[in-house]
Amino acid sequence: MDVFESVVKRLEVKSYLDKPVPMNIVREILEAGRLSPSAMNLQPWRFIVVKDKETLKKIGALSPSGPYIADAAFAIAIVAEPESRWYQIDTARAAQNMMLVAWNRGVGSRWVGSIKRDEVKKLLAIPAEMHLVTVLPFGYPKKPRRGTKKNRKPLSEIAHLERYGQIFFH
Ligand SMILES: Cc1cc2nc3c(=O)[nH]c(=O)nc-3n(C[C@H](O)[C@H](O)[C@H](O)COP(=O)(O)O)c2cc1C
Repeated sequence: MDVFESVVKRLEVKSYLDKPVPMNIVREILEAGRLSPSAMNLQPWRFIVVKDKETLKKIGALSPSGPYIADAAFAIAIVAEPESRWYQIDTARAAQNMMLVAWNRGVGSRWVGSIKRDEVKKLLAIPAEMHLVTVLPFGYPKKPRRGTKKNRKPLSEIAHLERYGQIFFH
């Protein structure tokens, strides 16, 4: 799929089929994270692939705004070295690349913000000094959301030309 088409069509997905995602696709998604750009090329990330159903259930129970992690085919916990000043930006870029590459293979995902991080860190044996940025659930979408119109502000509201306040018309 063309990158622009992926961006236009991709929607966040939180209900997943009970169907495994082949490991070559999981690996491709990880590669998309690994190959992402980062400040000073520090690559401050670590990715933990979680496939175990019981662990996914436990993470779901520890995620107030993402209980659907429990139903994912797998999840990727994104962990960062917080001494790298730009780790939030770097890991967000890696996450977006992973989610787009997954979408291109028909695999849905959704960012989960509210997670009991200390407890999930213990569950996944993440060292205390590392920051758990997020846990991304992945899986084949249960309800096809492709093609659904996105609810976004129009360009006329958010794009300016040359200086702030001059609306971009083209
Ligand atoms: C930083 C961030 C945190 C988010 N946290 C949650 C969350 O905790 N739970 C959830 O269901 N969705 C969460 N989302 C998903 C957003 O609700 C979603 O990206 C937005 O509604 C647009 O969805 P769409 O692309 O399907 O239209 C989060 C997204 C971002 C970027």
